Amino acid sequence: MDKIVIEGGHRLEGSVRINGAKNAALPVMAACLLLDGPSRIKGIPNIVDIQTQSKILENLGGQIKRHDDGTLEIAFRDGENNDKYTAPYELVRKMRASICVLGPLLTKRRKAKVSYPGGCVIGQRPVDLHINGLRALGAQIETTEGYINATADRLKGTDISLKGKYGSTVLGTCNVMSAAVLAEGTTIIEDAAREPEVQDLANFLNTAGAKITGIGESRLTIEGVKELHGVDYEIIPDRIEAGTFMIAGAITKGNITLENVRADHLTAVIDKLKEIGVEINTIGNTSRVKGNNLYHNVDITTLPYPGMPTDMQAQFMALLCTVEGKSIITEKIFTDRFMHVPELVRMGADIRVEVSSAIIRGTPCLTGANVMISDLRAGAGLALAGLVAKGTTTIDRVYHLDRGYERLEERLSKLGAVIKRIRD
Ligand code: UD1
Repeated sequence: MDKIVIEGGHRLEGSVRINGAKNAALPVMAACLLLDGPSRIKGIPNIVDIQTQSKILENLGGQIKRHDDGTLEIAFRDGENNDKYTAPYELVRKMRASICVLGPLLTKRRKAKVSYPGGCVIGQRPVDLHINGLRALGAQIETTEGYINATADRLKGTDISLKGKYGSTVLGTCNVMSAAVLAEGTTIIEDAAREPEVQDLANFLNTAGAKITGIGESRLTIEGVKELHGVDYEIIPDRIEAGTFMIAGAITKGNITLENVRADHLTAVIDKLKEIGVEINTIGNTSRVKGNNLYHNVDITTLPYPGMPTDMQAQFMALLCTVEGKSIITEKIFTDRFMHVPELVRMGADIRVEVSSAIIRGTPCLTGANVMISDLRAGAGLALAGLVAKGTTTIDRVYHLDRGYERLEERLSKLGAVIKRIRD
């Protein structure tokens, strides 16, 4: 397994380009199952999750070609693949987001067999809301031998609520919306997720001929159509990657420029960084991040969009470990998502977890240590901590980072970090 070794204490300077959003690209790729005709999708990051999704789609008859500029061509030959409807365990277990082929398969091929994604290191991740939503549209669904087996005649539009114990569901909204676009009649999804990635999928589907209104609101109205066509589309910039680089600039007291940023998708993140004392200025799609020595402790609560993303929690924790005073981070989406805490403690952080909150007392200096990544965003948090820790940090299980960040160490190195990958 590859490792990343970081020598901390180097200020970041320079400019970095933000890639297209992983979490928008994955459901958009799955939605290509719905289209008659080939599509060209720009801004697809070259990361392991995209490779996994490509394999799942190829298994379902897709022809996929990647170009060096990040464009993906995806085509399914209409009518030739109706006997292909399985997303197998070997691929689904690598990436929970593969569940987003369920809705498209069901509505287009009338049959889907998708491995149950199961638990996950960041906590319980049920799919009851996906299943309830698809059942409301008329699907018959049962779970046998670890697979979700679903069948349907043409789905029928209806009113559906996707409200769960922790708010709406991002991929559940993607699944139900993708299924409803080819259903007969009108579907209203109440309590829909409003995340920019869900909006991007809706915009993609509308470009392909779907009729979705209320995009970005918690009530989506979807008028079913008979068919969708191939499109040229560009994925939105990755707000989590942008937020991660913003914190890299902040934690090293650096001065960096981020290109290809949608600051309007990052309001909660930017507001919190400003409250901490980081200077951020955005002109058009470019954000300049300037750190300093005068940061303040803050409290953070993760919430559904437009609130603070849970996918930025570990990165903010790394920063707050270095800020004098007591900060409290409360996790309201995945209440057990604190696997990075013991690793940060190994680096000298003072953090106590109580139920779904982490109480952090900032220390003047983190120290390098051997740490292990438990999940993608935990890995980002540890890498950020390594950038400022005194001495050397060796990060193990880098494959988690490779799922979501393209050449992270190369890009940080270009900004002045002393960081290298040790290949296994
Ligand atoms: C997506 C993101 C993930 C992000 C998460 C929350 C992708 C590929 N992944 O995951 O990076 O951290 O949104 O913003 O886009 N829940 C249920 N029943 C369900 C589904 C979810 O109770 O059927 C609960 C979950 O346990 C969680 C909350 O709802 O507490 C939100 O989860 P959800 O929005 O579904 O996360 P994902 O879409 O899997």
